[in-house]
Amino acid sequence: MSSLKGKKILLGVCGSIAAYKSAFLIRLLVKEGAKVKVIMTREAGKFISPLSLSTLSKNPVLSELTTADDSRWNNHVELALWADLFLIAPASANTIAKFANGYCDNLLTAVYLSARCPVFISPAMDEDMWAHASTKRNIQLLNQNGNTVLKVSHGELASGLIGEGRMMQPEEIISLLTNYFNSSQSLKGKKILITAGPTYEAIDPVRFIGNHSSGKMGYALAEVCIKHGADVTLISGPVNISVPSHLKKFVSIKTADELFSATTKAFVIADITIMAAAVADYKPQKTAVNKIKKKEGELNIELVKTKDILLEIGKKKKKNQLLIGFALETENELANAKEKLKTKNLDFIILNSLKDKGAGFGTDTNKVTVIDSGGKKKELPMKMKTEIAHDIVNIIISKLHA
Ligand code: CTP
Repeated sequence: MSSLKGKKILLGVCGSIAAYKSAFLIRLLVKEGAKVKVIMTREAGKFISPLSLSTLSKNPVLSELTTADDSRWNNHVELALWADLFLIAPASANTIAKFANGYCDNLLTAVYLSARCPVFISPAMDEDMWAHASTKRNIQLLNQNGNTVLKVSHGELASGLIGEGRMMQPEEIISLLTNYFNSSQSLKGKKILITAGPTYEAIDPVRFIGNHSSGKMGYALAEVCIKHGADVTLISGPVNISVPSHLKKFVSIKTADELFSATTKAFVIADITIMAAAVADYKPQKTAVNKIKKKEGELNIELVKTKDILLEIGKKKKKNQLLIGFALETENELANAKEKLKTKNLDFIILNSLKDKGAGFGTDTNKVTVIDSGGKKKELPMKMKTEIAHDIVNIIISKLHA
């Protein structure tokens, strides 16, 4: 059975010469058994007729926020909730810019802002527009915000120029969507525990010992696991990222001790645990009740060790559980990571070296090496953390099927 059968696909069509391809796309989607509804921008109607798209999709095509007589609104929230997947093809430079910056000036942008389902964006534009720094920044924002931006192809463009910017062929899009829906089942029923972000250890009511972890890697992993159908529990330290939709459970912690108790509790029933949190190794022995006042001379704060959470849960790991840790190293990277893999009884360790530019804390990119318990290592090139998350999850899925 086609994995598109019965799937509800909302197709957004923008003003681009590639809009003619949306007719083929709808035909293929319908042939695969998908239910299709179409939203066009006003400009799209200049390139392809709404009648063609409504006939092919077997549904009325919507374009405006209100009906023609302005007596009713076209409910963007309802439309967004209806869809299993929202595909924008072709996505023009203008709509991409609006999506990236949260504009809401037509039905398509309003539906985008209301969408909770996965969003796939297939850009189409002229080479220079595609290469422009503004477009690049907008595409980066769309990726960061959890959208899937499809590749553009090289070839003859409407301007007569030859270059990058052509919309992906409908057949290719269909095969990507099919793969997406197939893979989205691959972690179905799996309980996945992910920890993310830093811990804060209080010195007094206003000061703490923390670290630069942004939580981006752990949150990206949670998003990908959700997309694969897993029941994800996310335990997070203080970060500035919005909580992913469709989590099974979200637990907010501050200290290493709080993380220890939340993690050990959730670990018991987890099939897979990914420890991406940057846990403080030391905490102040005492937290001052009042703000510590400035005095003559030096101030010494006595630190005591926190519990090594991964080490503790590693000791309790059962045969049917997978345990994945991270290693952040600045020297003897590989040897140190392998040592942690062994002592903490892990199935995989993901090594990032702070020596690599663009890797580690705070950045949107990362460069990691995944090492398994058999010593096999896979070096991944520098990529967006969202893409690395996909690679890591695919490695976990392969292990489950091995
Ligand atoms: N970790 C943990 N509890 C701690 C410290 C670390 O669970 N108290 C976990 C981290 O979440 C990570 C892995 O252990 O998955 C390795 O963390 P890292 O900071 O690289 O190493 P440490 O074990 O703390 O050793 P060191 O700081 O000496 O490198």
